[in-house]
Amino acid sequence: MSVHSKLYEGKAKIIYSTEDPEILLADFKDDATAFNAQKRGSITGKGNMNCIISSKLFQELESLGVKTHYVDSLKPNQMRVKAVKIVPIEVVVRNIAAGSLCQQTGLPLGTALKQPLVEFYYKNDQLGDPLLTRDRILLLELAKPEQVDEITHLALQINQFLIGFFQRCDITLVDFKLEFGLDSQQQILLADEISPDTCRLWDTSAANDPDRRVLDKDRFRRDMGNVENAYQEVLNRVLKAVETNNN
Ligand code: TMP
Ligand code: ASP
Repeated sequence: MSVHSKLYEGKAKIIYSTEDPEILLADFKDDATAFNAQKRGSITGKGNMNCIISSKLFQELESLGVKTHYVDSLKPNQMRVKAVKIVPIEVVVRNIAAGSLCQQTGLPLGTALKQPLVEFYYKNDQLGDPLLTRDRILLLELAKPEQVDEITHLALQINQFLIGFFQRCDITLVDFKLEFGLDSQQQILLADEISPDTCRLWDTSAANDPDRRVLDKDRFRRDMGNVENAYQEVLNRVLKAVETNNN
């Protein structure tokens, strides 16, 4: 296969091969989709912003000992990543009730959860990413029991880090989605991205204003406007927090 041939195109990223079979190149796109791609659009500068935000968060996590697929980022919208086989489970961690949790349980938006809720969704667009149970994961052989345990432990550890990190950005981490992959040694690595596309992020200083507080993809999903500004605001605050941390 030639160097930099396109291996896969997803909704938000294109994955290319590199000269090293263990390393892939993820190209972050400005394309935005919602509701299983029924809604499509573009967010100017999103590719750059999400790639930079994700790179910084992966680097911070690595420094805490969490293994990720991040290698480096040589261009603003490109991340070199370790080649992994993605576990077809979307792991959602929730601290505050929002989105599908409210729709499916009737919990009022903004309810603080007594403890983080870890949920699994089947990464399968044809089926509409349905909610999984542990037994369904084992039934479908999407992961082994010990892998489900490790992923749950990692998701909670990542949540603890992200809550604190975003607090320093004056941002409340409502919920987020993670994906994990297996490397050639069957090690579980955090993969995909952590960005305003995959997190619900509320501006803590506007906590009681249901419009102004939203600094994430819900602005696109719900046609709230000021989408680019929200992503830019998250990027600025993340960069400042990382800089302050390193000084
Ligand atoms: P949900 O409330 O719609 O289930 O979303 C929970 C979190 O997961 C939220 O932070 C957005 C994120 N998410 C994704 O990253 N990709 C998706 O396809 C969906 C549905 C949610
Ligand atoms: N991943 C969703 C889609 O399939 C987008 C989202 O709601 O985050 O379009």
